[in-house]
Amino acid sequence: MRPVRAQQIVELGGPSSLKLVDLPEPGPEHMLAPDGGVVVEVKAAGVSFPEVLQSRGEYQFKPPLPFVPGAEVAGVVRSAPDGADVQPGDRVAAMSMLGGFAEVAVAPPWLTFKLPEPLDFAQGAGLVLNYHTAWFCLKLRGRLEEGEWVLVHGAAGGVGTAALQVAAGLGARTIAIVSSDEKEKVAREAGADEVLRSDGPWKDQAKEVSGGGVGLVVDPVGGDRFTDSLRSLREEGRVVVVGFTGGSIPEVKVNRLLLNNTSVVGAGWGAYVTTKPELSRQIAGELDRMIADGTVRPIVGARFPLARAAEAMRLIDERGAIGKVVLDVPG
Ligand SMILES: NC(=O)c1ccc[n+]([C@@H]2O[C@H](COP(=O)([O-])OP(=O)(O)OC[C@H]3O[C@@H](n4cnc5c(N)ncnc54)[C@H](OP(=O)(O)O)[C@@H]3O)[C@@H](O)[C@H]2O)c1
Repeated sequence: MRPVRAQQIVELGGPSSLKLVDLPEPGPEHMLAPDGGVVVEVKAAGVSFPEVLQSRGEYQFKPPLPFVPGAEVAGVVRSAPDGADVQPGDRVAAMSMLGGFAEVAVAPPWLTFKLPEPLDFAQGAGLVLNYHTAWFCLKLRGRLEEGEWVLVHGAAGGVGTAALQVAAGLGARTIAIVSSDEKEKVAREAGADEVLRSDGPWKDQAKEVSGGGVGLVVDPVGGDRFTDSLRSLREEGRVVVVGFTGGSIPEVKVNRLLLNNTSVVGAGWGAYVTTKPELSRQIAGELDRMIADGTVRPIVGARFPLARAAEAMRLIDERGAIGKVVLDVPG
């Protein structure tokens, strides 16, 4: 069997700790799939914040060294276990969790989805993590209703652009918060109804735009903007906590929640769906509908060949990512 080209994290020194190696082709074993996973010939691999954190040993999931990072891929199915919804030859998007920065990866069957026709492999590599998370945050955890206003922090990033599109698909109106002109352009491309600057008076502007306060805040950034997120809510509004790219984990004075009848809701997609394959099927179905009507189109901001994965991770690390960062994997 031909060896498989892959990027390995060999030490915990940040993005430059990646090393291009040849490894034996993986079998169908996957840590989350006791009956075997789907083996995928990878065409594109998604790069995200967790891989950057993993390269420093700062992510909650710490595999022993050396390991191949890469939580999500798009490609073509080589083999699938009995009962899987996909079969050899299908174009798919899949959560491999690990091992995606390689020519061949393995994913659990319930996190492997047929890639809808309008999407190419690069878009497919940005579909599962961000868009399933977006639907989970907005609908399941955030209880979003049609016609509500949603404010999205980090709106030009991977989760942010996905949240803007899925919110629109759920009939909501959106306010994007971004830090630069370039990111404003991307948020508009992702369909934001309004775009505001993170270094401006966004809380007051959001209240004005929404006629008194937004129903939902989607927050992948955290840090010191959290109190203003709470202040931007209308009565019975919710802030959904998604991540902490800003670096610090905010604390909430709970009297604010009492005084204004608001809520803070945690949203951890991966841990929640791992034991609920039916839910993942449902989310994929909802997203397929939004892909078919054109509302959902993953925005691929930067592409690098597999051999330059460290540059892709550095772009995210330095706050330069726009939409999804993708590795093109040669066959
Ligand atoms: N809870 C879940 O289930 C779940 C699922 C997926 C991802 N996540 C988490 O969500 C977060 C966002 O992921 P992503 O893929 O959207 O990341 P991303 O594409 O890099 O976007 C993150 C955004 O955060 C903003 N930001 C503010 N301060 C920053 C800083 N110091 N460094 C970097 N970015 C900063 C940036 O927007 P501006 O420059 O415009 O401020 C940036 O566009 C990550 O923490 C990730 O782990 C959570």
